[in-house]
Formats: sequence, structure tokens, C-alpha cells
Amino acid sequence: MQVINNPKQMQDLTLSLKKEGKRIGFVPTMGYLHEGHLSLIRCSKKENDITVVSIFVNPLQFGKNEDLDKYPRDFERDKTLCQKEGVDFIFYPDYKDMYPEGYQTYVEVVELSKGLCGDFRPGHFKGVTTVVLKLFNIVCPDNAYFGKKDYQQLKVIERMVKDLNLPVNVIGCPIVREPDGLAMSSRNSYLSKEERDSALFIYKGLIEGKKLFESGEKNSKKIKEIVIDTIKKAPLLKEIQYVELVDKSSLKPKETAEKGDIIAVAVYIENTRLIDNIEL
Ligand code: PAJ
Repeated sequence: MQVINNPKQMQDLTLSLKKEGKRIGFVPTMGYLHEGHLSLIRCSKKENDITVVSIFVNPLQFGKNEDLDKYPRDFERDKTLCQKEGVDFIFYPDYKDMYPEGYQTYVEVVELSKGLCGDFRPGHFKGVTTVVLKLFNIVCPDNAYFGKKDYQQLKVIERMVKDLNLPVNVIGCPIVREPDGLAMSSRNSYLSKEERDSALFIYKGLIEGKKLFESGEKNSKKIKEIVIDTIKKAPLLKEIQYVELVDKSSLKPKETAEKGDIIAVAVYIENTRLIDNIEL
């Protein structure tokens, strides 16, 4: 396994591997890897000749009062995990090489970036699409792997790829959860034992919502209510930002729930913002 810092070097390398006929799989991450990330790496390993993982905490996608400075980082640990999984290259660029002085180009997926997290994190998806487009241009992957944990992010990236005719297949992978149901996230490392116990109510709420739907309830308001009521039982809940029941492609809120719709939530457990979702 090789660690590459320089974007031009990464690009030269993958372009020459592609010329040799190698199929490149790519897993973009912000590091502090967990089983969720590793599941994407394993998918890529199965379907490609070469797997590239990027580790870059992208300042562009963090708001002013968000957790950029305290975002967990441990490159040595990430490196060991990647090596174990048989990753071929880690792309680990410096901020100054990704956004050199004079940088001024951005890409925005206008409609899908609105609603859900977009309403609470202005500029977030613009930061995500900009960095992902840059990473795609640097790594030149055939296949790129994203988790359904960040469902809106996945939809936004799929749309960008379609709208801009990018030669990449975007593959959405299932949410990996802890044995008790908590969706894995690098941000779970912020949680104390008590906060983690509270965080479990998010998944419990989603499950209750899905159960109600499966018992025949189609009224989206009723389904959202049971999700909200369940999450409100979390002792350390600070705020529910949203609980929405949306169409799986347009992400538009639905009045009548159908199979395949998504219930998406964002909550604050004390000072930690957590998101999760479930497909009906
Ligand atoms: P990060 O939060 O590190 O996540 C990297 C990838 O791992 C994303 O595609 C995310 O959806 C996936 N992932 C995270 N937790 C998961 C889980 N429990 N199960 C399955 N997949 C999971 O998302 C980002 O980084 C950034 O926004 C990035 C796309 C790298 C752009 O900066």
C-alpha cells in the first residue's frame, strides 16, 4: 500500500493504471475509519482491480460553528486499517494542495441540496460536491462507493454525476450499524456512555416508524409522530432538527407513505449532531 499526498502524482498514477486496463474503485472518506467505511472498501475490493481510499477532512463542507477543528483524526490507525483491508493507495492530500491560493471554483446541485440537512447546514452540500468532483478528477475512478447513511449526500452526488456526464458509476452501499442498531459514524466517538445510550433512540424511532407503516398506516404525519415520540424518550436529547418522510429519489416530503420511501432524521444528542435513515 502506498500513501500519496500530491494530487498530480495521484492523477498520473491512476491514469497510467487505467491505460493498462485496470479498473479503479474509489472510497472517499474524512478518515477516522470504522466498519461503515470498511464495508465500502470491501465492496470496492470485490469489484475492481485497484482500490483507492481518500482521507481528507474537507473544510469547505463544514459551517462556521461546526466541528471542523475537533473532527476526530488518527491517520496512523486509518493506515493500519486500510492496509489490513488490502487497499492499494491512500490519497491523503494537504489543504493547500486541494485549495491553493486563488481557488474559486464550486459546483452545486441546486434542488437536491435543499431540504433535510441542507436546511440546517447551509453550504454543506456545495462543499461536498465540490470536493467530490475534485477527487473524481484526481482519482479518475471507474466505480465510487458511498454509504446510504448519508442518504442525501448520495442522491446529490448521483445527480451531479448525471448532470455533468462524469464517467463514474456511483454505488450506494447499505448502512452499517452497531449490534444494538446505532448507525456507525466517526462522530459517535464524541458520545459519552450516557449520550450513546440516548443516541440509540434514533434507531428505535426509525424502527417504530417502519413497523407502523408495515402494520398498514400510510399517513406520513402519523408515521413521523411515532418516530418523534420515540426519539423524545432519549434522556439527553437536545434538539430534533428534522424527522421527514421523503421520496427516495426526489427527497421531497410525502403525505402518503409508500414502500421504498425514506424516513430521515437529524438530532442533537447534547452537542453531537447525528443523522440516520431507514427505507420503508
Ligand atoms: P465520511 O463521513 O468519512 O464518510 C465516508 C463514506 O462512508 C460516506 O460515503 C458515508 O456515507 C460512508 N459511511 C459513513 N458511515 C457509514 C455507515 N454507518 N454505513 C455505511 N456507510 C457509511 O461522507 C463523507 O465522509 C464526506 O462528506 C465525503 C464524501 C468524503 C466528502 O468530503
